[in-house]
Amino acid sequence: MNDFKNSVIYQIYTKSFQDSNGDGFGDIKGTIQRLDYLKDLGVDYIWMTPFFVSPLNDNGYDIADYKDIDPVFGTMSEVELLIEEADKRGIGLMFDMVFNHTSTSHEWFQRALNGEQKYMDYYLFKDGNPDQPPTNWQSKFGGSAWEYVPKLGKWYLHLFDKTQADLNWDNKEVREELKNVIRFWKKKGVKGFRFDVVNLISKPEVFEDDEIGDGRRYYTDGPHVHEYLHELVTDTGIEDMVTVGEMSSTSLENCIRYSNPNEKELSMVFHFHHLKVDYKNGNKWEIQKPDYRQLKTLFTDWQLELQKNGSWEATFWCNHDQPRAVSRFGDDKKYWKESAKMLATCTHMLRGTPYIYQGEELGMTNAYYQRLEQYRDVESLNYYEIMRKNGKTDAEAMQILGERSRDNGRTPMQWDDTTYAGFSNTKPWISIPDNYTYINVKTENSDSDSILNYYKKLIQIRKKERAISEGNITFLFHEREDLFLYKREFDGETIIVINHLRDGETNIDASIVGNNCQRLLGNYEDIIYNKKQIILRPYESMICKVL
Ligand code: GLC
Repeated sequence: MNDFKNSVIYQIYTKSFQDSNGDGFGDIKGTIQRLDYLKDLGVDYIWMTPFFVSPLNDNGYDIADYKDIDPVFGTMSEVELLIEEADKRGIGLMFDMVFNHTSTSHEWFQRALNGEQKYMDYYLFKDGNPDQPPTNWQSKFGGSAWEYVPKLGKWYLHLFDKTQADLNWDNKEVREELKNVIRFWKKKGVKGFRFDVVNLISKPEVFEDDEIGDGRRYYTDGPHVHEYLHELVTDTGIEDMVTVGEMSSTSLENCIRYSNPNEKELSMVFHFHHLKVDYKNGNKWEIQKPDYRQLKTLFTDWQLELQKNGSWEATFWCNHDQPRAVSRFGDDKKYWKESAKMLATCTHMLRGTPYIYQGEELGMTNAYYQRLEQYRDVESLNYYEIMRKNGKTDAEAMQILGERSRDNGRTPMQWDDTTYAGFSNTKPWISIPDNYTYINVKTENSDSDSILNYYKKLIQIRKKERAISEGNITFLFHEREDLFLYKREFDGETIIVINHLRDGETNIDASIVGNNCQRLLGNYEDIIYNKKQIILRPYESMICKVL
């Protein structure tokens, strides 16, 4: 059954969710301990970031064995128990399939290094001399995308860290190996899958220098990507399970196809264009204030085109690669509560499946680290060096990391106000932001007006109102840069969603919600009318049902 349209999915960054054995790392047993919390929140699926055997250079996105569990996270029987316990609570588990690359510690790569031809063909090795990489392509984590192996006299491709070697999907044997991974987890009762950077799997036949970019135009949404995805999904029989593909620098046209039910590829896509509206000239490491007009245009264009084609997207602000939304698009100080709730309303009421990233439902903020030693992420540490080399001062580079580092989203889940926020009884692998004393589950559970309780209500509305889970979407007042307004309609029912994206006060014509409306939810106590206007306060948000 395709129930992903009325589902809400919760993302767990395992390493930072709950530590059960006092080593400072989150683990599977800890996750099991917190399942009741997720049940109470009302989520349907959990996407778990990778906990497979890994040297953890990229926190588990560098997998050395797809079918076994890294001891840092637990054991296979604990994972089986997790699946079972989640199932008892009506929650399905989605596992994270990192199929674009493996860790260089994976047996396949190790055998390739030993010169075994079969395994060399699993990867993208190219001949070349040691001073000249095969192309000028850049790794997404900085530096060349090629690494030289003196012993073999060859270079191998790594679009990410040099310990993450790209797999050769043109090799049928590789595709079969990966299908077996899916079958393995499906048999264990996993209910869905998230596919990491899956639109990068199909590389071009000829590798050439990119004179105008970093190489991505050659391998993004590559030549056989749709064919390979279709094959992976249909051969393993997961076309009716919930699947989501992470699409890096993708296009709308391709996403329409990836998520179109007729194509039998994926249930939905993650794309990231809306999370680049604060990149100066498209550069993540140059800061600018969010361009709200562009943000709205991106949401609008994608939503309408996907709708027109019967395709589907994940709607989200946060994940383990992104800074915290409330610090980025809201105001995490004066209007912390209001803006966190407003941002949640924006994505939860759109046409798509909403994802909540752990701690987002509490309004967790960026980390505000003051020292470089507090950062852990390979990308952040690489880019600190690159920025310094390019002339930025330490203070400038630190300020940029403060806003852009992926570690902002990787700090431990804030459960309570005890020393280590209830995450662990020892010093965690990464520092906890100071605000855990008031931003935490315990405090918010007992406050009826909390961000956490607001999320619960948003989830309930989705379950109750088919206009939200299945309805048509139309956007209103597009010219108003300070407002994000849309209408959802299904079977004669209409719901209007109003979001004020700014500080300060503004108003809109009350006729927008008709003469008679019921406010299903809002982040202020009531609606304020003035004559024929609705007054909107800072970051005000409301969901109104037209009666
Ligand atoms: C995805 C993951 C990210 C990881 C990268 C390489 O973007 O979300 O965390 O570093 O892929 O696997």
